[in-house]
Amino acid sequence: KTKIAVLTSGGDSAGMNAVVRAIVKYGITKGCEMFVVREGYEGLVRGNADAPTFKRKVSFNKHDLNGHTELLDDTSFISNLRYGDGTLLKEGEGDAMDHPGGRSLKGRYIIRVGWDDVRGWFAEGGTLIGTARSAAFRTREGRLSAAKNLIHEGIDALAVCGGDGSLTGADLFRSEWPSLVSDLKASGDITETQANYYAHLKIVGLVGSIDNDMSMTDTTIGAYTALHRICESMDNINSTAFSHSRAFVVEVMGRHCGWLALMAGISCGADFIFIPERPPKAHPWEDEMCDNIHRHREAGKRTTIVIVAEGAHDADLNPIRAEDVKTVLSERLGLDTRVTCLGHTQRGGRPCAWDRILPTLQGVEAVDALLEATPETPSYMIGMHENKITRVPLVEAVKMTQSVAVAIKDKDFEKAMSLRDPEFCE
Ligand code: F6P
Repeated sequence: KTKIAVLTSGGDSAGMNAVVRAIVKYGITKGCEMFVVREGYEGLVRGNADAPTFKRKVSFNKHDLNGHTELLDDTSFISNLRYGDGTLLKEGEGDAMDHPGGRSLKGRYIIRVGWDDVRGWFAEGGTLIGTARSAAFRTREGRLSAAKNLIHEGIDALAVCGGDGSLTGADLFRSEWPSLVSDLKASGDITETQANYYAHLKIVGLVGSIDNDMSMTDTTIGAYTALHRICESMDNINSTAFSHSRAFVVEVMGRHCGWLALMAGISCGADFIFIPERPPKAHPWEDEMCDNIHRHREAGKRTTIVIVAEGAHDADLNPIRAEDVKTVLSERLGLDTRVTCLGHTQRGGRPCAWDRILPTLQGVEAVDALLEATPETPSYMIGMHENKITRVPLVEAVKMTQSVAVAIKDKDFEKAMSLRDPEFCE
């Protein structure tokens, strides 16, 4: 039986739970044993060794895939703690902290899950299995521990859902795997038989990020939900802006990528947008912005909305600060101006329909990619291109995404956009 673990990593995004649900459910139908890793790579590094031992007797409902339910004991106090295939929990596996959606940072990090454990997860925001930006996993020591924990749990395939940083970590883990295994064998942490059996780690990446900043895929899981969130906020801002005939400078997320800002600007009729990939044509930018807004006001517009992508105010790249924009709007155009930073309201909340559909389709593809993987095939990132689910080599996608960041840093904006997405460039 292939044992597949799934984890979510980096900044959460709507749709991550739908990824976990799809992978767990489809994996079960393919005869795999399914696991979740709580708290991202951090959970992989920590593993289950320090988990407290379970003392209480546990009982559960047995569900089979046809939906039949059989009560196996009379105390179902932790209803979610059962395996979908009906296998009894072993001693030590039933602590309440083991709930795959548990909130405690103690307990087991790598947990076997079944069909019912992920029921309804497509509609939940954030990530119920937790996420982290793990410093430990960035060290070789941490990755050694992660490899040991996976092998000790008998897991031979890993699905990682996260942004470019998390997938860079996945790529590194995969490329280092043979040397990690050989170090673990040398230190006696794993046996020779284990070293031979786990000689290759199957790994697949799914892109969960609100930023939509990954190369070689048209869209990332969570980006459209975040865009919806921004639109809702913009509608709210617009009505108060209209009432007072005010200007608003709105800061949106997106890290180095201007996709959220640009799409929000189009969706909400912004007057001016600052994105890292295309700084204002004129330097200084004040004239260009004021000319545009003045024209719009002359044409009778009561509201002024300027969107600043967070990447545009990164001091190293292209320092446009919301407060500076406000000063210019107030002093040069005499507009009563306010600044609003939407912050993490953009990232939270229930996924829109697209962020349920995309992760479901991609989760299925991810399991297939893992089951079809051989030592010769590359590790894949599951993407989407022209409305089709795709598999692209993880290493290439990661490399291209990193080149975009370098190009932006070098102020080679045309190159950055063509590397990220040629169509976006046009
Ligand atoms: O990558 C997603 C993202 O929300 C970015 O848009 C933002 O720059 C960053 O994460 C914020 O990270 P944190 O939640 O750790 O402050």
